[in-house]
Amino acid sequence: MKILVSGSTGQVGNELQLLASQQSDYEFTFKSSDALDLGSAESIKENLDSNIDAFINLGAYTQVDQAEQDTKACYAINADALYHIAKYASPNTKIIHLSSDYVYNSIKDRPILETDPTTPLGVYAKSKRDGEGNLLGLRSDAVVIRTSWVYSSFGHNFVKSMLKLGTERNQLNIVSDQIGAPTYARDIASVLMTCLAHPTLSGIFNYANKGQTHWADYARIIFKLTGIECEVNNISTSEFNAAAPRPEWSVLDCSKITKALNMTIAPWEESLKKCLLELGYEL
Ligand SMILES: NC(=O)c1ccc[n+]([C@@H]2O[C@H](COP(=O)([O-])OP(=O)(O)OC[C@H]3O[C@@H](n4cnc5c(N)ncnc54)[C@H](OP(=O)(O)O)[C@@H]3O)[C@@H](O)[C@H]2O)c1
Repeated sequence: MKILVSGSTGQVGNELQLLASQQSDYEFTFKSSDALDLGSAESIKENLDSNIDAFINLGAYTQVDQAEQDTKACYAINADALYHIAKYASPNTKIIHLSSDYVYNSIKDRPILETDPTTPLGVYAKSKRDGEGNLLGLRSDAVVIRTSWVYSSFGHNFVKSMLKLGTERNQLNIVSDQIGAPTYARDIASVLMTCLAHPTLSGIFNYANKGQTHWADYARIIFKLTGIECEVNNISTSEFNAAAPRPEWSVLDCSKITKALNMTIAPWEESLKKCLLELGYEL
């Protein structure tokens, strides 16, 4: 099977490259944004106009706050691109796309199901919801995976920011009124590999590591595991005052994907430890 992947330089892109290098069942081609520009219909057409069995779309506009200003670029990459992908991919090409917990915001008191309404708040969130619609509107056989709070030893993320800031400062003010599940990009990459082995899989699936926390406790656990001495003060989302709104509750019910792929999901703390080991910390 020939697999084409966009967004090779991102967190999930790098993790998938690692897993791809350890197997021989699939022939992977990874493309950076230079080689496959999701902002260009031409580039999408050129890349998808070939004999590929599956296309995994990991490229995205992911600067959530910047998107509030940079609306056009965000929509081009996260929403319009999905229309072009759906249009130009051969009907024989399986499309697997990553989306976000940010598409939800109406449920606050139980894990969110794929069938719950999408009520995205900011530009990034709306562009991700529209991208899903553009893809599934033309390609009901596509797979959309909604994930949350992604981190990895690659790229920029909360874990790496905390490891840096925690050694530079004695205390940090961190938001404690957004609840969700940190999700290791390597676990997402592993799920993507499993999806390839289930060619009849289609539709929308939630996937996040098991459990829940808030950002302040997440930081505390990072510091506890690594022995970094930094005090964490809880603050509210309004005190933090980010440019883009974020959902208060992002706990995903992942039972649909666990049944469909016959898999279990690691608790978020367990995967966090793996990532910290990968970053060279002795736990
Ligand atoms: N990060 C999170 O917390 C989070 C949470 C939920 C869902 N997700 C979703 O998960 C997916 C992967 O996220 P990630 O964290 O791995 O992202 P990431 O580390 O921010 O990487 C984004 C990737 O998209 C690429 N990209 C940007 N503009 C592009 C363009 N015009 N054409 C092609 N590629 C382009 C980037 O390439 P360059 O390096 O060249 O810019 C980079 O490889 C995305 O769909 C994201 O929306 C992420």
